[in-house]
Amino acid sequence: MDKQRKLIIAGNWKMNKTVPDAVELASQLQTDLGKVTELDVVVCPPFTALSEVSRVLRASTMRVGAQNMSEHPYGAFTGEIAAGMLKDLLVRYVILGHSERRQFQNETDALVNAKMKAALAAGLKPIVCVGETFSQREAGQTEQIVGDQLTGSLAGLDAEPMQESILAYEPVWAIGTGRTATPEQAQQVHAFIRGWLSRRFDDTTARRVRIQYGGSVKPGNARELMGQPDIDGALVGGASLDAHTFIEIVRNSL
Ligand code: 13P
Repeated sequence: MDKQRKLIIAGNWKMNKTVPDAVELASQLQTDLGKVTELDVVVCPPFTALSEVSRVLRASTMRVGAQNMSEHPYGAFTGEIAAGMLKDLLVRYVILGHSERRQFQNETDALVNAKMKAALAAGLKPIVCVGETFSQREAGQTEQIVGDQLTGSLAGLDAEPMQESILAYEPVWAIGTGRTATPEQAQQVHAFIRGWLSRRFDDTTARRVRIQYGGSVKPGNARELMGQPDIDGALVGGASLDAHTFIEIVRNSL
């Protein structure tokens, strides 16, 4: 299917992999996926492994992303990492507003919005995550919740930087649970998000922004998910920690 949007498959390693383990995984991926150009392949290791993984992937077509960053450019913010520091390590993408950070670090849409602007100002491509919980879905609030998250996270943004950004729909109930949204369920929300983009920005922007799906993506369900008209890639958690599995997901998405 020609969506005129290049698929983007990203592995979110979360808080996994020591530096030697990360180097080994990146090397394995590089061997198999290092020349892939039909779609964008990104890995997002923990901060501690970014430098070494960047080095391993330097000569490949694969790109490196971070899992979070500060909204500030520098200063007295103990324990934080600034966008410029990520740029130093050849990082191109940064995941923002992942539901685990919203849940465990109390990240709000306003904070995600500030981080997004800081990322774009530094030349990083943000991957902004949205998604409803199980009880919100059960209560029929999915579109309301996702719409509110988009309104807050993308506040004040112009169409041009929006087109450089990536959105990820990650239903919280599908993350790490083995319970994937069905392709139809995912497509429905992706179509809602694209309609939202069209109303908030314009048709061109809606047509250009890539929207990833995340939540228990596996080799067995990748093809069908990627075949949906408004799904433009995957944000893969658990299945990105094993080279063979992640390679299969990418291959099945081609
Ligand atoms: P799982 O693929 O482990 O469900 O995680 C999805 C995710 O949170 C990616 O950011």
